Amino acid sequence: MLSRREFIARGTGTAFTFAAAAGSTGLLAGCAKNSSTHPPTVASFHDLAGSRSLRAHARRHGLIYGSAVVIPVVKENADFASLLSEQCGILVPSNELKWVALRPSREAFNFGPPDFLYDFSQRNHMLMRGHTLCWHQSVPAWIKTIDSKDEIRQIFVDHITTVCKHYAGKMQSWDVVNEAIEPDDKLPGGLRKSFWYENLGPDYIDLAFHTARAADPSVKLTYNDYGIEGDSDNDAEKRRLILEMVKGMKNRGVPIDAIGVQSHLNAGEEYGQGVADYIEAIHQLGLEVYLTELDVNDDSTATDDVPQRDAVVAKTYTDFLTAALPNPAVKLVLTWDLSDKYTWLNSLGSHRKKRPNRDQRPLPFDADLKPTDCFYALRDSFNRHKLV
Ligand code: XIL
Repeated sequence: MLSRREFIARGTGTAFTFAAAAGSTGLLAGCAKNSSTHPPTVASFHDLAGSRSLRAHARRHGLIYGSAVVIPVVKENADFASLLSEQCGILVPSNELKWVALRPSREAFNFGPPDFLYDFSQRNHMLMRGHTLCWHQSVPAWIKTIDSKDEIRQIFVDHITTVCKHYAGKMQSWDVVNEAIEPDDKLPGGLRKSFWYENLGPDYIDLAFHTARAADPSVKLTYNDYGIEGDSDNDAEKRRLILEMVKGMKNRGVPIDAIGVQSHLNAGEEYGQGVADYIEAIHQLGLEVYLTELDVNDDSTATDDVPQRDAVVAKTYTDFLTAALPNPAVKLVLTWDLSDKYTWLNSLGSHRKKRPNRDQRPLPFDADLKPTDCFYALRDSFNRHKLV
């Protein structure tokens, strides 16, 4: 019989071969399931806890798996809270650490919800990451009424200092700056024409990282962005601009530890060499890579047949992870929520969902908390591409 390491090194094989190889240990049950077939029925999600979970399979292969969380849901839905604790090794609040949620006024910091999630993550032996200290889409109305650029700069520094100190020694990583590159804005370096850029100037990014480091010396400081995952020319250009920016930061001695690849994918799109090269370039810079917001939008898939749609979504996961995971720089994989019930992709009125009568199924568990093909695609990908 093959050893586990030999078995995995040779690829996943067939489910039959795998079942024989896994023997009676039960440790790797389901590891090598072929993700192109429909998943077996499980009586409840608890059947996939423990050694069968995404969390355990990721860990065995040197990765940490986790999810974004809409915090009120953890309080309201006990089943979902238990699914999170079974499947995730790390959590990130979807919205509650963004400025608009955290800073209802100039004086107030609404730490209650993220503190609740931190306690939940501690009770369940999970890590937590912070998202985000600076994002063009989350700028509270009150700060936009301030005329003095010096005052805005002071508020920016005070915000990052207060928030990072509040969680000093507690977070695994912070998305210090989110989505600062937008080539269409035609600014030097491809910087986005955001509120922060316009009021603080181009050095706001360096300032954010220096301030975060001074407030929490041990947390991993991350630059996070999207639109860099595919093989198109646009994605290639954005990758180039981010790498240029990060090289400049490193040359100037700006503290940065990791780059986040958001990984909001589109069903059926090609993912491969582009993201693999990007991750290797980041690796060469000595930085870690986090896949921070993985999901697959299949709103434009023509068929309404759920098994067919799920197969396309799962293949998109597999193709992307096949390109990304072999690189040792990749340390974290987080999906942007865990259940289709709470995905942001089902918010109507956004260009991400144009079909009022068809919900998307982008995540490892469906709206009834049953595993989808994505669950198996993720788990198989962990098993195939990295060994501790
Ligand atoms: C999204 C949240 O999921 C939504 O609930 C909110 O309305 C808008 O923001 N990239 C990011 C995340 O970095 O912060 C975004 O989260 C999704 C895209």
